[in-house]
Amino acid sequence: MKFSLNVDHVATLRNARGEGQPDPVTFALMAEKYGVDGIVVHLREDRRHIQERDVRLLREMITTKLDLEMAAVDEIIEIARDIQPDLVTLVPEKRRELTTEGGLNIIDNVEQLKDAIERLHEKEIPVSLFVEPDIMQIDASAEIGADFIEIHTGVFSNAETEDDMYDELDRIRLAVKHAKKLGMGVNAGHGLDYNNVKEFMQIDGIDEVSIGHAVIAYSVFFGLENAIKRMMELLKID
Ligand code: PXP
Repeated sequence: MKFSLNVDHVATLRNARGEGQPDPVTFALMAEKYGVDGIVVHLREDRRHIQERDVRLLREMITTKLDLEMAAVDEIIEIARDIQPDLVTLVPEKRRELTTEGGLNIIDNVEQLKDAIERLHEKEIPVSLFVEPDIMQIDASAEIGADFIEIHTGVFSNAETEDDMYDELDRIRLAVKHAKKLGMGVNAGHGLDYNNVKEFMQIDGIDEVSIGHAVIAYSVFFGLENAIKRMMELLKID
């Protein structure tokens, strides 16, 4: 299983002072040095954290892979087509949410998402769709040409009882198998942390996890190198 680091929170901190520090691009380059397999950023329509400048610099400077999370809207699709990240992950986006709140409803937005995928494919950008571990949404993802799905792990991460957590793990296990059978790659993320990731490792077949908040929070106390190394140990990455 590979590990990509989401650096949005570094941009949030930088933007708090309206100046240049801490720079998410420098942070991403250090994260690569400490062993992450990729960098994830979410260029939101309201630009609340990552800016277009960050994405362009990351594209030029990082040597692993750049996963651009974004809404399927014209303005951002055009930016993605121009910058050409290694992967686009389409997510639902609401202006007032604190963070992405759940997977895409592909079934209700087939035309919009299909069009976005086609426009990104024209530039040879692979596309992942952020979805709940729901077989019907996964079928719809394959039908409209997604290369990957990213399974929303928020329900697993926030489960209040062990039973709920194991039920959700079962749903995720079936979802991964189903997506693989349909020929798609499978990523996963949201709310994964140093406590719950061990249980999550019971699931086979996930290509990559995308983790942000927990690793950035840990790095505030213990430094980025320790935060990444510890997560890599838990993910059993050498
Ligand atoms: N994957 C997606 C699609 C997300 O929107 C987020 C949150 O930005 C993450 C993964 C990472 O979630 P977290 O910050 O809780 O690790």
